[in-house]
Amino acid sequence: MNEITIRRPDDWHLHFRDDAMMRFVVPYTARQFARAIVMPNLTPPVTSAAMAKAYRERIVAAVPDGIDFMPLMTCYLTDNTDADDLAQGFADGVFTAAKLYPAGATTNSDSGVTDVAKIMGVLERMAEIGMPLCVHGEVTSADIDVFDREAVFIDRVLGPLVERLPALRIIFEHITTSEAVQFVDGAGESIGATITPQHLHINRNAMLVGGIRPHAYCLPVAKREAHRLALRKAATSGSAKYFLGTDSAPHTREAKESACGCAGIFNAPFALESYLTVFDEEGALDKFEGFASENGPQFYRLPLNQGTVTLRRAEVRVPDSVDASGSPVVPFHAGETLRWTLV
Ligand code: DOR
Ligand code: ZN
Repeated sequence: MNEITIRRPDDWHLHFRDDAMMRFVVPYTARQFARAIVMPNLTPPVTSAAMAKAYRERIVAAVPDGIDFMPLMTCYLTDNTDADDLAQGFADGVFTAAKLYPAGATTNSDSGVTDVAKIMGVLERMAEIGMPLCVHGEVTSADIDVFDREAVFIDRVLGPLVERLPALRIIFEHITTSEAVQFVDGAGESIGATITPQHLHINRNAMLVGGIRPHAYCLPVAKREAHRLALRKAATSGSAKYFLGTDSAPHTREAKESACGCAGIFNAPFALESYLTVFDEEGALDKFEGFASENGPQFYRLPLNQGTVTLRRAEVRVPDSVDASGSPVVPFHAGETLRWTLV
């Protein structure tokens, strides 16, 4: 097969940032996707419906003319989230979901939730009204090895939460381990998961062999090869529980190439090409449309997109860096050649 046409896809997890960086990155996503779930970890975080509405307007203003693209907003949960404001924002169509960042887990998560018990009332309300919960699934205790944080989160937080609130629809975001795949496979229909392109392409060697490579660093951090293989199997299995979520997270080259480099991989420019390469390598081109365009909206109970996109088997070279109004940003696959091109 040298060409593939699928229903227009969506990106069920990404970071647009704000201001100049936002205006720079939004067109990359709008070019490929009809909708995207926008993460709320700005400074300050998007914690109210009013903030989300204003942020949504800024994003819409950054969409190039003639492209129809809809940002889907999320609420950043804190220990003090007001269940009524959240429910009202969901009812009004401002919020599509809420995001649980364990405090300190990643970029701008300091105001995140210190203990899920503290927001149990909010989560109960979300289960009642059918509002999905996006979860950054890592524990943050200093005594837990960074490579074990996702697996420990399943045992200590996610498993017990699912037992307590079986009706709550949870997206286990950017999963990175075979333990997560096992958990999602074994869970009921209320549990879905997103998988990023980088976790399908690279293992932790990509970050650490032959020198330390900050552009391969994101959170959750890439794990051993066995985990990458489990993720590839899950993504290409045809299971409706898995869907596309890039976690595209731009940071300037300067912020990445530093003594304390930021976590995040900017994969928006060639996201579809990157995913499709994996499905091709796995002999699963027939499963790509489900993963990219159907499983996500079905899980979120949103309509499927109209229209299609076509990718052709043709080489495309990914630039070494792209210029975000004077600040270079290094994209995922920088300097590599991908074998599929969006037509
Ligand atoms: O690598 C990451 N970058 N993981 C996250 O969870 C957040 C993101 C960011 O905002 O930079
Ligand atoms: Zn993210």
